[in-house]
Amino acid sequence: MTTQDTLHRPIRDLRISVTDRCNYRCSYCMPFDKYVWIEKDEVLSFEEIARLARLFVGLGVEKIRLTGGEPLVRQNLDDLVAQLVALEGLNDLSLTTNGALLGESADRLKRAGLNRINVSLDTLRADRFRKLTRRGDLNVVLAGIDAARQAGLGPIKINSVIIRGLNDDEILDLADYGRSNGFGVRFIEYMDVGNANGWSLERTLRKKDILEVIQSRYQITQVGRRDGRAPSLDYRYTDGGGEFGVIGSVTEPFCSSCTRGRMTADGRLVTCLFAAEGFDLKSLVRGGASDEELTAAIASVWAQRSNRYSDERWEAIQNGRPFNRGKKIEMITLGG
Ligand code: GTP
Ligand code: 5AD
Ligand code: SF4
Ligand code: SF4
Repeated sequence: MTTQDTLHRPIRDLRISVTDRCNYRCSYCMPFDKYVWIEKDEVLSFEEIARLARLFVGLGVEKIRLTGGEPLVRQNLDDLVAQLVALEGLNDLSLTTNGALLGESADRLKRAGLNRINVSLDTLRADRFRKLTRRGDLNVVLAGIDAARQAGLGPIKINSVIIRGLNDDEILDLADYGRSNGFGVRFIEYMDVGNANGWSLERTLRKKDILEVIQSRYQITQVGRRDGRAPSLDYRYTDGGGEFGVIGSVTEPFCSSCTRGRMTADGRLVTCLFAAEGFDLKSLVRGGASDEELTAAIASVWAQRSNRYSDERWEAIQNGRPFNRGKKIEMITLGG
């Protein structure tokens, strides 16, 4: 069964948040307003997640990414990984992490069947890293990434959100870190996620400016988007230095090819990173809904989907119009 939304986009990717807790407090992610943490008994069990994931796969999902908050603060995450890799029809299972707990968990995750990881790393300067994350230790993260590599998780990608005046002087250092370690760095335009991360367009370093900095040192050629639908537009260094990507969701939005659904830790199905709310699957699951009923509910939510927030934001920016869609779900709840 394939389901398309109102813009003819199928559902192919599912980002599952396993917790809204995080051991860091990055200023651009943490909500400043009153944030109500998801209660423990509201959080889906691994069995509930795996069941829903199986139904999503039945609807066409091929890739699952585990997110948070920070997914590795959830105890025994490798048990969930093992349940998910067993799903027939799923061909990619990965995880986006801040890396702080990779040192102790990489081996177990690999043994459970995790394919690969993306690690958030915006700076290579220890003092800056501490300031940005409000509690992180850069060396622990670098050692964690190393542990992941040793464990055989790969490819490893590095996510670097570039914020003007904060870390835009590190683009070449981050590029060289990726080149010398064989990691694909993805430079990410700073976005207006959540409700109070202090975003302004002036603080977003645009994709073209990011590329210009890289091209001041290296020749590059465009490779394209993986599977034609990934957020990252990938490039190759022509000197054999590997690949990197730019995620330009502000100045080059990719809503028309967005096949991503998201599920929060308390089982809400969310059809856009910038959505105001999600559809409560948990109540159906805990109310005794059958697989058929759940599948029909998911398909119906997807069929009504019309989100194209980043396209609309860019249209507004270009036309000099104000753009405000009101309250959004917080980044820490959606995991990016
Ligand atoms: P790959 O499967 O390795 O390509 O991962 P990914 O890039 O899809 O996921 P990741 O969690 O590494 O996200 C990288 C960045 O892209 C984060 O800043 C996300 O918030 C952002 N991102 C991912 N999906 C979307 C999307 O659908 N819309 C927008 N606007 N940004 C997204
Ligand atoms: N803009 C762009 N990316 C962001 N992320 C967190 N907040 C923002 C933002 N405001 C990234 C993190 C992580 C991914 C899940 O989302 O760095 O790599
Ligand atoms: Fe930072 Fe990621 Fe934690 Fe947000 S979820 S505070 S971006 S480490
Ligand atoms: Fe998809 Fe929404 Fe991101 Fe557009 S803004 S790419 S619809 S998640």
